[in-house]
Amino acid sequence: MSEVEQSAYKYIALTGNVTVQLVVNLNKLHKQSEMTEIGKPNILITGTPGAGKSYLCQRLAEQLKFTWLDCSKIAKEKNFIEEYDEEYDCPILDEDKLMDYLEPLMTKGGNIVEYHGCDFFPERWFHAVFVVTCPNKTLYDRLKERNYNEKKLTSNIQCEIFGTILEEARESYKSGIVYELKGETKADGERSLKTVRNWYSMWKRK
Ligand SMILES: Nc1ncnc2c1ncn2[C@@H]1O[C@H](COP(=O)(O)OP(=O)(O)O)[C@@H](O)[C@H]1O
Ligand SMILES: [Mg+2]
Repeated sequence: MSEVEQSAYKYIALTGNVTVQLVVNLNKLHKQSEMTEIGKPNILITGTPGAGKSYLCQRLAEQLKFTWLDCSKIAKEKNFIEEYDEEYDCPILDEDKLMDYLEPLMTKGGNIVEYHGCDFFPERWFHAVFVVTCPNKTLYDRLKERNYNEKKLTSNIQCEIFGTILEEARESYKSGIVYELKGETKADGERSLKTVRNWYSMWKRK
């Protein structure tokens, strides 16, 4: 108990002043809500690998004081991997293990979840879904830089050409909460950050 609370309680005991009791209770509630981050939404940032999700998430987490949960990174660290796809040179995610891990975090709120897919998460987790997109040429260069093999590269570029993730998001979540963000240039990045910040401001006012 803080010094202020202690002296407030002494004052209540001496005078029976109910107003002070109320203020103390409100302060406690406020502290509790800060601790559990009640009142903060969960945001999903999805899109083709290389589109610019991490770039945005890192900045957003800093600016909004949210927790950035990069699902690919978590899956690797916690070994939420079912098997390895040799052809595409990538691990196959154990979705159930990841979701069991995320559930208590999502209940708390205040998370920015990053993943290159979105159809297996519970719809109830997210208050907004942002799909980051990027022109093929830039995406190609970014993935080439990551030394993706030809097969993996082609499938990801096709994913972007066909707007697969945008479609997946629109099929999996209510259309009113799905937004597209551009992830090619720094100027795009700034615009996208502003869009999410504005969304959050509106959400808080609701
Ligand atoms: N808006 C942007 N402007 C300039 N470079 C970007 C932008 N978004 C991403 N990049 C760069 O592109 C590469 C891939 O971005 P990243 O955020 O890691 O993609 P993802 O998380 O979607 O796989 C990184 O080198 C990153 O710095
Ligand atoms: Mg990433």
